[in-house]
Amino acid sequence: MARAAFAILWCACWSITAIAGLSLEKQMQQLVENYEVLAAKLEAVEQQNMRSLEAQAIHVQNLERKIQQQASLLTALRGGNQITRADAETRQTPATGMPRSCSDLKARGHTLSGLYLIMGAKTVETVYCDLRKSESDPTLQTWIGFADVKSMPVYFNALRSSTTFKQVQVPIPFDVARVNVGGAMNLSTGKFTAPRVGKYFFIFTGTASFLPSAGRSSLNMGLCLNGNSFGDIVTYGLSDESNSNVYQQESLTLQSTLHLNAGDQVWLQIGFLSGSFLEGGGGFGGTNHFSGWLLEEDISQSLTG
Ligand SMILES: *[C@@H]1O[C@H](CO)[C@@H](O)[C@H](O)[C@H]1NC(C)=O
Repeated sequence: MARAAFAILWCACWSITAIAGLSLEKQMQQLVENYEVLAAKLEAVEQQNMRSLEAQAIHVQNLERKIQQQASLLTALRGGNQITRADAETRQTPATGMPRSCSDLKARGHTLSGLYLIMGAKTVETVYCDLRKSESDPTLQTWIGFADVKSMPVYFNALRSSTTFKQVQVPIPFDVARVNVGGAMNLSTGKFTAPRVGKYFFIFTGTASFLPSAGRSSLNMGLCLNGNSFGDIVTYGLSDESNSNVYQQESLTLQSTLHLNAGDQVWLQIGFLSGSFLEGGGGFGGTNHFSGWLLEEDISQSLTG
C-alpha cells in the first residue's frame, strides 16, 4: 500500500515538471489527463485496500468459526461423559494404582493409539491400544507379549579355582566370582539368596576324582534348597568307579530351573562320598563352576511385597 502511494506521488511530480513548457490549453488538457490517471490509480489502490480488508475479515470469521467448533466439542465431551474438572483429576490418579488394560488407560485420559505397557497378572505386558475404540469394544486391546522387566539384574558365575573339597553335607564355598551382578551369591558361604520372587536357572559342572580301589568308589552331589540335609536336595548327581587300580576322574553336571521366593537359598553340597573327592583347579582356572540367573521375575508380587 505504501509503495503504491509513493508511486502515485512520484507520478504527480513528474507530470507537473513535464507540463511547464506547454500552452495554457495544452497545459489544461495535460492536467485533466493527469488527474484522470491519478484518479484511476487511487481507485485501484482503494480497491486493493478493500480486497485485503475483505480477506482479513474472512480470516477472522474463519478463526471465530474454529473457536466455536472447539467450544462446542468441549461442551459435548463434558456433557457426554459427565466429566467435571474434579472427575478428570481423580481419574488421572486412580485409587487402584497401575493400569491393567487399555480400557484403564482410556479411562485415565489417554487418547493416542499405540503400544503401551500394562501390569499383567505377574509381569509387565505390552499391548496395542486402539484408543479410538470404545471401552466396551474388544478390539480396543491387542495383546503383544510379556515385557521382560526385572526390578534388578541377578546373575553369577562362581568357581573353585584350586583346592579339592571333600566335606560331606556342607555347602560348597567358592573363591572366585567371574560375575556376581546383584550380589546374590555369597562365595564364602556358598549360598545363593534369591533377592526377588521368580524363576531362576542354576547349573553346576565339576569334576569328581576317584582314588584307586578294589571295590566301588562314588561321589553324590546335590543342589539344595532351604535345608541342610540330603532330603532337601532339589536335584542330585552321582559319579562312581569300580574295581579301579588307577586314579580316575569323571565330570559331574547338575542343573535345575526353580521357582524361588525372595529370601530362598540355593547351594551345592556333597551328599556322600567314598574313595573320592571334588577335584580342584589343576591350574586351568578351576574345574568346578556354579552359575545361576534370574529368568523371569514375578514383578507384580515384588511390587506388593
Ligand atoms: C557372606 O556371608 C557371611 C556370613 O553370613 C557374611 O559375613 C559376609 O559378609 C557375606 N559376604 C557378602 C559379600 O555379602
